[in-house]
Amino acid sequence: MKTIYLIHEQQDLLWNNYGNFEEVFAEVGAPFPPKEHLEHIKSNGGEKIVLLSDDDSEILGWIGIVPEPDKKIAELAGIEVNSNYRNKGYGKKLITEAQKWLSEKGISKFKFQTSPLFTSNSLLYVKAFQSAYKWNNQNALPPDNIPWPVVDCEMEWPLSKRKIKIKDIEKALERSIITWTGLHPKFDDEGLNSAKQYQTLEIPFLSLPTVFEEFRNGNFDVAKIPFSAFEWLSNNGYHFLDFQEYDERYFYVFRKNKK
Ligand SMILES: CC(C)(COP(=O)(O)OP(=O)(O)OC[C@H]1O[C@@H](n2cnc3c(N)ncnc32)[C@H](O)[C@@H]1OP(=O)(O)O)[C@@H](O)C(=O)NCCC(=O)NCCS
Repeated sequence: MKTIYLIHEQQDLLWNNYGNFEEVFAEVGAPFPPKEHLEHIKSNGGEKIVLLSDDDSEILGWIGIVPEPDKKIAELAGIEVNSNYRNKGYGKKLITEAQKWLSEKGISKFKFQTSPLFTSNSLLYVKAFQSAYKWNNQNALPPDNIPWPVVDCEMEWPLSKRKIKIKDIEKALERSIITWTGLHPKFDDEGLNSAKQYQTLEIPFLSLPTVFEEFRNGNFDVAKIPFSAFEWLSNNGYHFLDFQEYDERYFYVFRKNKK
């Protein structure tokens, strides 16, 4: 595998002539088409890093980075791993390469937005890189204005050691404030108690294609109910603490803010 800094190495053609974007990179990625996205990054002094297969035939993944004008933080302008090559460590490798590039410029922080409904993303950002997730309740999806959970995310490095210790993790995780029947969530009233120090919220393994498929089937609750639960937690003084994988289940852990 080769790591290519497209802009620094003047390899625009490698990106612009790649014929396979629709097939393997259509999931979330950049907010606009590939060529324009590279142009946007270039004109803003950023970099797009790609992982290329040894025989040069496949782009395995990419990440975009744009330093803010004050050079204190950078925007993570999209990350995507080729759908045929996920869960092999390429997402981690891309973030590490981007951090290296930014560190040389004296920057040690990314910001970006994501949805806490995407399990792989939380595994990558929160579990692998200990990013901070801050609830952002401003988002709705057209055309029906479906409430869509979003977080403002910050990732800093070098990593400091996490000091999270939750007593009796099994019990804490069993008290998820959402219960799921398949991909149908129910906001569990019994779990609501704003006096608790910790709350947990379970999600199944979700991704954008899965959620959109549920929308097509009329299941808008898959996004609406988690939105209500995140909103309740935020309104009752909780903040994101961690994302836990436990017994092949996935949980957000929240802690009550200290007054
Ligand atoms: C998010 C994404 C970039 C992750 O890339 P990836 O190469 O699959 O991730 P990695 O293999 O580096 O995995 C990172 C961590 O998450 C875990 N992970 C990732 N996908 C997983 C899965 N399907 N099941 C279990 N664990 C998973 C890995 O095990 C790893 O943790 P670990 O090393 O502690 O075990 C990829 O899923 C993707 O391209 N998604 C669609 C595009 C997208 O959502 N872009 C971002 C929009 S904000």
